[in-house]
Amino acid sequence: MGWRSPSLPLLLLLLLFLSCLTCLVEGATASGFRICAYNVQKFDSVKASNYRVMHTLTRIVSRCDICLLQEVMDPDGKAIKALLASLNRYEAKYSYASVSSKSLGSSPSDMQQYVFIYRKETVNVTGQHQYQKKQSFVREPFSVQFQSRKTAIKKFILVPLHTEPRQAVQEIDRLYDVFLEVSKKWNNMNVMFLGDFHASCAYMTRTDKKKIRLFKSAFSWLIKDKVDTTVTDDTNCAYDRIVVHGETFLKKISPLSANVFNFGKEFKLTRTKVLEMSDHFPVEVRLKSSAHLLQATPLLTLLGASAIVHSFLSAL
Ligand SMILES: *[C@@H]1O[C@H](CO)[C@@H](O)[C@H](O)[C@H]1NC(C)=O
Repeated sequence: MGWRSPSLPLLLLLLLFLSCLTCLVEGATASGFRICAYNVQKFDSVKASNYRVMHTLTRIVSRCDICLLQEVMDPDGKAIKALLASLNRYEAKYSYASVSSKSLGSSPSDMQQYVFIYRKETVNVTGQHQYQKKQSFVREPFSVQFQSRKTAIKKFILVPLHTEPRQAVQEIDRLYDVFLEVSKKWNNMNVMFLGDFHASCAYMTRTDKKKIRLFKSAFSWLIKDKVDTTVTDDTNCAYDRIVVHGETFLKKISPLSANVFNFGKEFKLTRTKVLEMSDHFPVEVRLKSSAHLLQATPLLTLLGASAIVHSFLSAL
């Protein structure tokens, strides 16, 4: 009977040890690098002067290492400047910077910019590229290449798109041409597409997918068809999407991390206040971090477990 006494405490110790490792791994993953995309519906200097809107937008953007904003109507840059100032006041740990496209569109009353807001401490911009080909898009993608020490993937390209709803299928398909151009330009196949594609409901049906080259097997659609990225209960559509090219990039993305961010629920805001921001919710995905702990974990587990087994055996 003497052998039974050490086994229980040792087993408990082993369990404790393993669960501690799990917390560590989960902690490191949860704090992984977050990329977000938000159609912030007509973000101009009037909207930016609304304190409540600005405060909520600051809370939303401050969670992200990179946040793509769409429907920014800020040709003189004042609204984005105010947002950056608000972010830099709110989140003392980081300083935020932005990179913006020109105003894009086909009608002077509806000119929109793509704006990437990013944390200077975690990521660098290493290039930008405005797609030029005429009549391909209403708002031609403004691609940016980023580089980060914090992520498992070192250099990656973000290609934003806010489609014109009536020609969403054609525009999504033409992202493939943008892919060929930017991957060649920077000699980098790690490309992520993100934004309000209107890739759902009446604008993109199941049969339309056959006409879209971005549904080739090399591309992974991380925000799935059944997701609802709209705020109102009347619509249930996966308009906003995140798509990545290639196995290499896919493996460096935290599994199941692509999601809608329902900030109404998270921040406990009324539906009216959420709609005051936009009719869309943001979408987001996390990149695996380059933390050595993660890579060392299997070895640590093995060493820890064998030490415990060893002490258990020697107690016999
Ligand atoms: C950004 O680039 C600078 C200069 O090359 C480098 O020192 C820094 O570590 C980079 N930052 C990140 C977060 O990768």
